Amino acid sequence: MKYITTPIYYVNDKPHIGHAYTSIAADVIARFYRIFARTENVMFLTGTDEHGQKVQKSAEKLNINTQDFCNEISSQFRNLKDTLNLSYNYFIRTTDENHKQTVLKMWQLLEEKGYIYKSFYKGWYSQKDEAFIPNNEVNDGKDQNGNSLEFLKEESYFFKLSAFQDKLLNFYKSHPDFIKPSSYMKEVVSFVKSGLKDLSISRTSFTWGIPVTKDPKHVIYVWLDALCNYISAINYLGSDPSKIEYSEHAKEYWDESIHLLGKDILKFHAVYWPAFLMAAEINPPKQLFVHGWWTVDGQKMSKSLGNTVDPIQIVNKYGCDEFRYFLFKESNFGYDCNFSENGFVDKINYDLCNDYGNLVHRVLTLANKVAINGIFKLSRSFDLSKNIDSEISSKTIKLKETLKKYINDGLLTEYLKAVFDIISIANKYVNTTEPWKLIKTDLQKFNDVISELIKVIIDISIFLYPFIPESAKKALSFVGISEINENVLNTIYEGLPLEKPTPIFNKIDNKKVNNG
Ligand code: MSP
Repeated sequence: MKYITTPIYYVNDKPHIGHAYTSIAADVIARFYRIFARTENVMFLTGTDEHGQKVQKSAEKLNINTQDFCNEISSQFRNLKDTLNLSYNYFIRTTDENHKQTVLKMWQLLEEKGYIYKSFYKGWYSQKDEAFIPNNEVNDGKDQNGNSLEFLKEESYFFKLSAFQDKLLNFYKSHPDFIKPSSYMKEVVSFVKSGLKDLSISRTSFTWGIPVTKDPKHVIYVWLDALCNYISAINYLGSDPSKIEYSEHAKEYWDESIHLLGKDILKFHAVYWPAFLMAAEINPPKQLFVHGWWTVDGQKMSKSLGNTVDPIQIVNKYGCDEFRYFLFKESNFGYDCNFSENGFVDKINYDLCNDYGNLVHRVLTLANKVAINGIFKLSRSFDLSKNIDSEISSKTIKLKETLKKYINDGLLTEYLKAVFDIISIANKYVNTTEPWKLIKTDLQKFNDVISELIKVIIDISIFLYPFIPESAKKALSFVGISEINENVLNTIYEGLPLEKPTPIFNKIDNKKVNNG
């Protein structure tokens, strides 16, 4: 079992590249595991975060009923499934009735275990981040990024976060791989070491949220509500609010849970969420994969700065696989990356057209020349395991294990680099063996070379499938392969039904960028 989640997206604004990035990363990992985890049970979850002051204010500003507003923006996120070719299994909304029941059960558990008490919150609040900001991080009514804060004075329920400082530190120590990349783990440990204060977990100055059952003038803090989506989607707490009923199924998924998230929401996932779960006697998730930001001129792309890039426009202009590829090849997943359309076009033209696309096209065009009744008969060298003296074959054989490791560590950029290294070696192999000459001088050698290259094309297309699913499928269809699974790598084919290859990617004219 594998369980991959994205953060659930606020519905105060339409999707931008930052959101697309998290979702596609989760999609890549889910698709990889569906091929290689030898399990059918890969659950990929995404959805929308719809409660809280920010959303209520956004709807009020537009004079729209809040639920109608949520429905509209939530459907834009849901529709990214088609635009970005996302293979999620479930789309959760925090306004779903089932989710609300899970949040209320969670509240009840925390209360029963004695971790909730009523008091008064007097301090700063960031509506933008839906976060309570400690006084020492406030300067002139602004947070450390210069965003305006509001001063709250309201009755509030608190969660005894302070009771979890040592438990969290022990947990991080015994789970050194909990956060990837590990630099983010260091950040979290030092934050927790600096001391944890109890956390306000309800609000009384607005109404858009889940009311506390026994005290409905309080709505549950949006982060407690939102974080519970990860367990409500798999019905972890079962249907009976009076006792914890973990269905076996849910627990198996939970033990393999990987949350993807941007670095801006690390504290919520790495500190608050494990503490809530520990308080309810539930294990923390297995792992957090943290990524950096897409920036424009060095600043985080965000609605408030008005510098967002619309993924739908980019996909319509350049293609979905092109966009998916670019996001991970250009950035170093885990760290920040500046968005540039010129950079995008270069990656498409050089990597996808010149390297992968061209390799497929020239090898299969040559293979077609000797096909008999459309069938290319492979020579024995097609079985790479019998041909491991060649650099390209031995590297391709080892690639699978390397790529598995990269996925398990959330190293998506390294993954693509490793595959493209093989592509580059394969292209060099074509140049040095010159099969267009061999076809006239040494047909046996020609067949060996082309067979080996076809095997490499099949393997790398399977490896590229999680990133560029439609293009990889197209490449495989040229050799009559329509199933995408691990067996394709191990099958020894005698003959392959060939189709005449057509270009998989189109070169982009740089002028197109400037002309918009
Ligand atoms: N609703 C919360 C998450 C709750 S999860 C229980 C939230 N939503 S968000 O819409 O603001 O952000 C969702 C994800 O998009 C986060 O992982 C965030 O890091 C990511 N991105 C938003 N802007 C981004 C960039 N400019 N670049 C990369 N990703 C960023 O936070």
